[in-house]
Amino acid sequence: MSVDQDNPMAARAAAILRANDTGTSIKAAPALYPHQWSWDAAFVSIGLAHLSLDRAIQEMRALFRGQWKNGMLPHIVYSADVPGGAYFPDADRWDVAHISPDAPGGIATSGIIQPPIHAIAIRRICDQATPEHARAIASEFYGPLLEWHRYLASARDPEVSGLITIVHPWESGMDNSPRWDQAMARIQVPQGELMPFERSDLAHVFDASQRPTNEDYDRLMWIVEVLKQGSYRVDQIYDELPFRVKDIFMSAMLVAANEALIRIAALADGDFDDLTIIESWIDRGRRGLAEQWLPDQGLCCDWDVIDDSWIKVQTIATFAPLLAGQLTADTRTALIRVWSSEVFTGHPGLRWALPPSTSPGEPSFVPNRYWRGPVWPVMNWLLWWAWERIGEGEIAAALRGNALDQISSAGFAEYVEPFTGEALGSDNQSWTAAVVLDWLAAS
Ligand code: SER
Repeated sequence: MSVDQDNPMAARAAAILRANDTGTSIKAAPALYPHQWSWDAAFVSIGLAHLSLDRAIQEMRALFRGQWKNGMLPHIVYSADVPGGAYFPDADRWDVAHISPDAPGGIATSGIIQPPIHAIAIRRICDQATPEHARAIASEFYGPLLEWHRYLASARDPEVSGLITIVHPWESGMDNSPRWDQAMARIQVPQGELMPFERSDLAHVFDASQRPTNEDYDRLMWIVEVLKQGSYRVDQIYDELPFRVKDIFMSAMLVAANEALIRIAALADGDFDDLTIIESWIDRGRRGLAEQWLPDQGLCCDWDVIDDSWIKVQTIATFAPLLAGQLTADTRTALIRVWSSEVFTGHPGLRWALPPSTSPGEPSFVPNRYWRGPVWPVMNWLLWWAWERIGEGEIAAALRGNALDQISSAGFAEYVEPFTGEALGSDNQSWTAAVVLDWLAAS
């Protein structure tokens, strides 16, 4: 499916991706995020595929150059030609090449992960290629994707629960979501032990109230120090890590990504035993997610591993079962009800019927602060994809229409104030441009 480049919105989206292209990879945003981020890159390649399949493949190839020898796909692949001070934490702060024998040679990366949407992106790219080309793409990425998923299913699930443990809020992609408040509140930064640092984000987002707080950053950076002290060997230091949460949204995404991986395996003539393993990951993931669903509350909850407790907060992560697909009739009905109620898209104050990242009914809701309330266009895309996938075409169509209206008004913002429609965070965010291209191609 190609996109009509005479459409002004598509032309604008394509221009943003071109402007953010370093030649090697696409910056997540022009100034705030001047490197390649893992889940951003996957969304970006989904959009790029409508402009050039080769460029989309190149984007994923650039990301996978950063893959670690243990299969881990790091959350940032740093561009060598961007000066250190342009983004914090820079590559030197992670210092992975000196600390971990698993780090890739010659490429600077971070030492943590982000949600595994990559197989879904590769599958979508394959779906647009000729059969012969699709087989070549699948053959190139199947092995690295399989090792990435194997890392998640092993190092990130020692309990064999089917649920993935994140060891840092950045890993969720939803950095300062109230989902992490209870686990973050426990983290004490020892006096004088945190290497000083200067945030660079506030040089680009002048209104600090749109970003995480300084207290958040101290704790975020302390967890990085603990990971460094343990040589980033999450499998060996698991029990000592100060933040360990079973992330339902990431776990659900892995279920969907494993389903995509089955299709990629078929194209790549994957080994039969590996297919059986992928299927077992899917089953385990579904079982794990089912246990996190509280039907009486219409809520899917993360699990605090250290505290052995539910994390009961109403955020878009509650739609994890939708993302994983294959819903029971009861869960489908409950999710549709929560979606359209005033907990999410039916809230009377919303400028558009789009899901705030945190429900306006939560005491922790803040309409302009990063993941604590704003609407994220890229999440609208993911949920649109998920509703469509389970056959809820009407909900998906309304979501797409409202999401495009929002972008027509607010521009290609990173996130948007749900009540006023004000653009927040970075402008010209690559993944916002990418999802617009995909939506326009779907029309
Ligand atoms: N989202 C993070 C940031 O704000 C990085 O992963 O910098």
